[in-house]
Amino acid sequence: MDRSPEPGAPPVLSRAAVRPTSDLAGGMRFIIQGRVPLQGAIRVSGAKNAVLPAMAAALLTSEPVIIEGVPRIEDVLILGEVLTRLGATVEWLDASTLVITADQVRSFHAPSDLVKRMRASFLVVGPLLARFGEGASCPPGGDVIGQRPIDVHLVGFMALGAEVRFDGEVYWTRAKRLRGRTIFMDYPSHIGTENLLMAATLAEGRTVIRNASAEPEVVNLAQMLIGMGAKITGAGTSTIEVEGVERLHGTRHRVIPDRIEAGTFALATAVTGGDVWVENVQPRHLDSLLWKLGEMGVRVEEHGTVLRVDAREGRLRSTNVQCLPYPGYPTDLQATIGAVLTQAEGLSVVHERVYDNRLLHVAELRRLGAEIEVSGQTAVIRGPVALAGTTVRALDIRSGAALVLAGLAAYGRTEVLDIAHLDRGYESIDVKLRQLGARIERRTAIT
Ligand code: EPU
Repeated sequence: MDRSPEPGAPPVLSRAAVRPTSDLAGGMRFIIQGRVPLQGAIRVSGAKNAVLPAMAAALLTSEPVIIEGVPRIEDVLILGEVLTRLGATVEWLDASTLVITADQVRSFHAPSDLVKRMRASFLVVGPLLARFGEGASCPPGGDVIGQRPIDVHLVGFMALGAEVRFDGEVYWTRAKRLRGRTIFMDYPSHIGTENLLMAATLAEGRTVIRNASAEPEVVNLAQMLIGMGAKITGAGTSTIEVEGVERLHGTRHRVIPDRIEAGTFALATAVTGGDVWVENVQPRHLDSLLWKLGEMGVRVEEHGTVLRVDAREGRLRSTNVQCLPYPGYPTDLQATIGAVLTQAEGLSVVHERVYDNRLLHVAELRRLGAEIEVSGQTAVIRGPVALAGTTVRALDIRSGAALVLAGLAAYGRTEVLDIAHLDRGYESIDVKLRQLGARIERRTAIT
């Protein structure tokens, strides 16, 4: 195949290398003056959890891979740095398009300092192992939201014939060539499925992944891999079949819209009693949330890829939420819906079933006046209560978003500390909220 980017590729505006900036972001905070109903329109960015596997998949070929719809978020910059240190070239073609060329990979060991900052870095192991016969990484870090083992990744690599060794610090994986076979995943891990799917594309013979994750981001990755020449069927169901091929080629791929960002704006609209048009949405990816919004009394209209969320009428009603793997209600919208339910009439029960420690932010919501009791991974929320602004701290990406939503609903001034967490996953959330009329400002440590 022709190794140059496809004809019609956007012009190269700036071939800026991708570099994370979060080391400079310490001490940043949001100041929010609440009680303004959101109004207007915003456009959702490409999905964080779809772009990260797409970037890792670029390691499967020596040809350029163009990824469109890329959000400028910290996690993208960190994974870009991981790929660069492995030897790939990672460049912005324009504000939301990356081109990654992995023709000069010289290391098969993901840098530990970066892997510890972001769990998704572990996604490079499957492609490295499949293409180069070895891939190594330390156990991944990431948000403190519960136990996050990687056993299903490792068991899957071993099932495909890899030798996996842990030396106390690093997992070393090795295989001359992976061999396809049937794998049953103990848990339908999201990035576990992505890692095994990528590994299986270059394995010899047929791989069947049972109890696979059906998240839309897995489907988006499968579409990209098919565009690179992989033979995959069943993505989006619990059984994915892959017929291994000898090599993959470059492609041009578009990242799906971020359903979690879309959901966060829909919930922000609900909590402020606003009326917002959320653009660039795939509504079918958000069925579980739309169902909940309906139960809460929020009107949602679908206009193709635009959702109109209208919460101007009446009070919110309480509801119960169970967080489950897709198509269940997403854990990544658990904290945010919890913040909204503090404003709903009656008792709501939120049951977190994906992670075993993802209710730590409740203590911060309580500081704002929320009435929430936690027992294990279940939160019982009594509403509506008048929240009163104070200083709270973001603990991870999604709990940070929940505190912003609570601040938008609170009387007075709310200060959200450690917002670098939000910058990892939301593209310019403060800018977009201001576009909707919110009074939110970003301050650095000294302003
Ligand atoms: N699990 C295992 N063994 C494994 C892997 C996971 O037991 O080998 C368990 C974990 O302990 C956890 C559950 O499975 O209780 C869910 O983990 P999963 O592997 O599905 O999550 P992930 O793939 O690491 C992705 C997203 C998360 C999102 C989850 C669930 C990316 C980069 N991350 O993580 O996103 O919460 O799926 O949908 O895709 C976020 O965006 O804020 C975020 C945390």
